[in-house]
Amino acid sequence: MQEAVIQFDRLKPQFTETKKKLSQARHLPGEVYSSADIYALEKEKIFMTHWLSIGRTEEVPNVGDYMTFQVMNESIVISRPAPDQISVFMNQCLHRGVEVASGCGNAQDFSCPYHAWLYNIDGTLISAPGMKTCEVDLKGSALHRLQMRIWRGWIFVNFSDNPVPFEDFIEPYERNLWWFQTDQCKMADKVVIDVACNWKFLVENLIDIYHVGVIHTSTFGGFVKGEKLKFNLEKDGGWHTSYEARPHSKGGKQVFPTLPWATKAPSGIACKAGIYPNLNLSMRADSVRMWHVWPISPSKTRIICYLLFPEAAFSIPNYDEELKKYREFVKQIIAEDAVMVESLQNTAGSKFFKSGPMSPLEEALHHMEKHYIDLMTN
Ligand code: FES
Ligand SMILES: [Fe+2]
Repeated sequence: MQEAVIQFDRLKPQFTETKKKLSQARHLPGEVYSSADIYALEKEKIFMTHWLSIGRTEEVPNVGDYMTFQVMNESIVISRPAPDQISVFMNQCLHRGVEVASGCGNAQDFSCPYHAWLYNIDGTLISAPGMKTCEVDLKGSALHRLQMRIWRGWIFVNFSDNPVPFEDFIEPYERNLWWFQTDQCKMADKVVIDVACNWKFLVENLIDIYHVGVIHTSTFGGFVKGEKLKFNLEKDGGWHTSYEARPHSKGGKQVFPTLPWATKAPSGIACKAGIYPNLNLSMRADSVRMWHVWPISPSKTRIICYLLFPEAAFSIPNYDEELKKYREFVKQIIAEDAVMVESLQNTAGSKFFKSGPMSPLEEALHHMEKHYIDLMTN
């Protein structure tokens, strides 16, 4: 960790360049995308302190349902102990630390596979066989619980014991995102793709309107009018905006019914938002998506894109076929981006690499890169 702090000190002159006004600013230096020490510091300063969406309540619909997940090697369990309750706790046995649950499913309890300590579905310890003579008091013990909140169908957790109040964190999005009515949607599919680049390259790519007309000509690039786009910037590194763009389909044709809350909006509306550090929210007239960007290593990132629709979409004629086409369309967009962000990763560690100036279309990237510097240097 100390290494990363020293590295940040050395990078100060380059951070000064990033923090200049947009017309004079340069992007972040390559080291922040390639250094393992900086990656470790990001875990502590960003992912272990921020509210993170880890999935949807509908993924654990019934009592006893559970799923496991990893955030930067921290293994967690999400479970539903009662109809109106969701628990999130560390997947770490109180004996030696073995993961007590794996994959997903429905269970009454979790038996640790190593020495069979038994836990309730909410993580409370039920029994510890062979421990009768142990004088350590285990009564009332439970797997370490994380603070969690539900927002518009999403399960947010925070690894910190003393996080920013969730209500303060979500307030700008709660107030502004009229179009992100995901509590009125169901998940149609979840696209999971690993990309060989640092997580920040992908988060930045998802708000980079500058490249859309260049690399997405065979998907949606021709249907986005982004030149006059104005970003609303939030002080926590987030942003939201709307602009003109056609639905995500070949030829931009609308396939699914118009979202009930968007019937009065222009048919070519697109809305997007970013919640720092790793969420990208998106709406077209007929569909909603939430992109989650998860760091796996300094140079590997997992994208999980949730495809959501309100009820009416699920009963259109040829639904399965249309969903397949939509899924392939989204995958194609990611494939087009992956080539670029993997190339960025290839050069980020080069001693010859010097980050270049920003375009006026990179306003939201600038905002986020400055926020990153503040988070990492304070
Ligand atoms: S590690 Fe779980 S019971 Fe020993
Ligand atoms: Fe893209």
